Amino acid sequence: MATAIRFHDQHRQAHSASLLEESLRGFARTPKAISPKFFYDRRGSELFEQICRQPEYYPTRTEESILRQAAGEIAEIAGHNANLVELGSGASRKVRLLLEALHPSSYLGIDISRDFLLSSARRLAADYPWLEVHAACADFSQPMNLPEEALGEQPLAFFPGSSIGNFDPQQAQAFLRNLHGQLPSGAGLLIGVDLVKDVEVLEAAYNDRAGVTAAFNLNLLERLRGELDCDIEPGRFEHRAFFNEARSRIEMHLLSPEAQRVRIEDEHFAFAAGETLHTENSYKYSLAGFVALAAEAGFRALAAWTDRRQLFSVHYLQRD
Ligand code: AVJ
Repeated sequence: MATAIRFHDQHRQAHSASLLEESLRGFARTPKAISPKFFYDRRGSELFEQICRQPEYYPTRTEESILRQAAGEIAEIAGHNANLVELGSGASRKVRLLLEALHPSSYLGIDISRDFLLSSARRLAADYPWLEVHAACADFSQPMNLPEEALGEQPLAFFPGSSIGNFDPQQAQAFLRNLHGQLPSGAGLLIGVDLVKDVEVLEAAYNDRAGVTAAFNLNLLERLRGELDCDIEPGRFEHRAFFNEARSRIEMHLLSPEAQRVRIEDEHFAFAAGETLHTENSYKYSLAGFVALAAEAGFRALAAWTDRRQLFSVHYLQRD
């Protein structure tokens, strides 16, 4: 019993078709763009874990220190025996900061990266033998149904890392509304949100000196080359990341320094010199701005915690 996990696969069929379809559609668009969810093959998930350890990438360690300090207060609001549901659980590392204080009766990790999800869930189950562990492979950027048996009576959703920043404000609304529809009245949502700050600090976090973020961005092209019939050469693209102040978001792109043509299956796409493939947005909020967005989707702000420098925030929201 101790290390058995319950696996809910909601993603297998849709998967490879959508990488091809979304690539063809994204490369045909102007400007060219592809969803950041495709970063997370096994290699991409590993590179992301490495990004989190880079000295310039403040969000992870800042959120972890907030969670460590707030765990007691979070548990006071949520009570014991919650059914904890983590969206985009990755390595399931952050949730460990809450488990002792919160003592949930079950944990469900949801992630798009199947192998990574399974090995993380098994490790968690081995380390916390008292915890009932579920894992669901799903794409939560699309409307989805959470597996009911794992939702239990007292669900507490956990969405750390400012992953909500990958959505534009309208998509973030839609995402929260979908979650609102899945959760019973009174359910909690503990969510990490990155804050607006000095451009230098923001841009350094996405241009680490070790080049890990660049490798993470370029791995998307490695993945396309490995999984699709295409002739893309990652070496002919460069990593770019900058803060778009008007839209309050970091943008990541893959830039083609020279004009080139790439083929995916039997379609060809031309890049002009300097043209980019837009791979990610990472929106940055103010505390009040995020609370207002959540309120519009039917979540009331019960508490929020930040660090001393106001780099990052963790909000406890309650579904109306
Ligand atoms: C997982 C979306 C929160 O936007 O900071 C990190 C992903 N991309 N470095 C972020 C990411 C480049 C990360 N999120």
